[in-house]
Amino acid sequence: KVYRASTTAPVNIAVVKYWGKRDAKLNLPTNSSLSVTLSQDDLRTLTTASCSASFPASEGDSLLLNGSPSDISGARTQACLRELRARRAALEAADPSLPKLSTYPLRLVSENNFPTAAGLASSAAGFAALVRAVANLYELKDTPSELSKIARQGSGSACRSLFGGYVAWRMGDKEDGTDSMADQVAEAAHWPEMRALILVVSAAKKGVSSSSGMQQTVATSGLFQQRITTVVPENMAIMENAIAERDFEKFAEVTMRDSNSFHATCADTYPPIFYMNDVSRAAIRAVEAINEKAGRTVAAYTFDAGPNAVIYYLEKDTEAVVGTFYHALQGADITGWKNESIKELKCGISLDENVAALIKGGVSRVIMTSVGEGPAPTEEF
Ligand code: DP6
Repeated sequence: KVYRASTTAPVNIAVVKYWGKRDAKLNLPTNSSLSVTLSQDDLRTLTTASCSASFPASEGDSLLLNGSPSDISGARTQACLRELRARRAALEAADPSLPKLSTYPLRLVSENNFPTAAGLASSAAGFAALVRAVANLYELKDTPSELSKIARQGSGSACRSLFGGYVAWRMGDKEDGTDSMADQVAEAAHWPEMRALILVVSAAKKGVSSSSGMQQTVATSGLFQQRITTVVPENMAIMENAIAERDFEKFAEVTMRDSNSFHATCADTYPPIFYMNDVSRAAIRAVEAINEKAGRTVAAYTFDAGPNAVIYYLEKDTEAVVGTFYHALQGADITGWKNESIKELKCGISLDENVAALIKGGVSRVIMTSVGEGPAPTEEF
């Protein structure tokens, strides 16, 4: 008999950023963070986990990632699998009638519905799907918050992808990390009008990985101390309030300020780390122009450890936000405009020539998406 479970898991994009580890081994952060889960219609990982006494033990555990055999021996993946097995073994010890799944080799098959190369938080969705799929296979009773502690050890941001909607990762203060986990601040349905426009910006070369970048920042940046002691705690409090009150102006200001603060600590790292490029900065100028023309804040930019821009806006402001970028990108061969109606958007705040040229020359693809739901069991593929 082969036991099997499948799940999908979403991508999340932080509006208060995780940047810095206080314990690299347990993957414990120096600050709390908060993210918006994005719709799985556009971005998700689908993972099937299976195990059987008939799988040859000599084969060991295996992972097929987007169709290619992938290394499973990394410390982070191993930490997740070890913990999941231990929890299954505890259930088996308590109930001897249960099949001993914890002793069988595991086969994991994982696929993204978006190109990995786009640099879109695929590790967050990937580890969340891995943990959720194996937890389902093992019929673990742990809550998503409990499981988030396991996913956190795969990749910090992955702990937030176990929930839909608006999600906080509480840093915790225990040394063993047992209080460093994610919880849901609000469901997607609480503020369903939230949209995200992702401008995929091609980078000349691959930048510093977030794991190594944040460790360099912790070790060398003076500004970073200010960020973790004052800036982030304030941003977390204002952000949670803004979400509770569905106050987009407040949400947007904190989102932009926090992204700026994070990238400032990168510039203050020695030697400095630069994730944004000229195209990213042009996207910031464009958002500023849109907000200025609208006479209120209708769009908020944020950038992770790469040049892609994620722009949050509310559905009612689609014309001002999407229309402007659509017009700036006209003529460029871009995929991703969600539907033909975009082409009918008249609006388009006209952008400064240089800003428009940078965007047109540097954006290779757009993704229009929205706030979405958390992991869900699914038919295997
Ligand atoms: C800038 O979660 O990729 O996207 O824990 O080392 O795997 P590891 O780091 P990772 O870092 C994400 C950093 C960020 C901000 C965020 O998502 O909060």
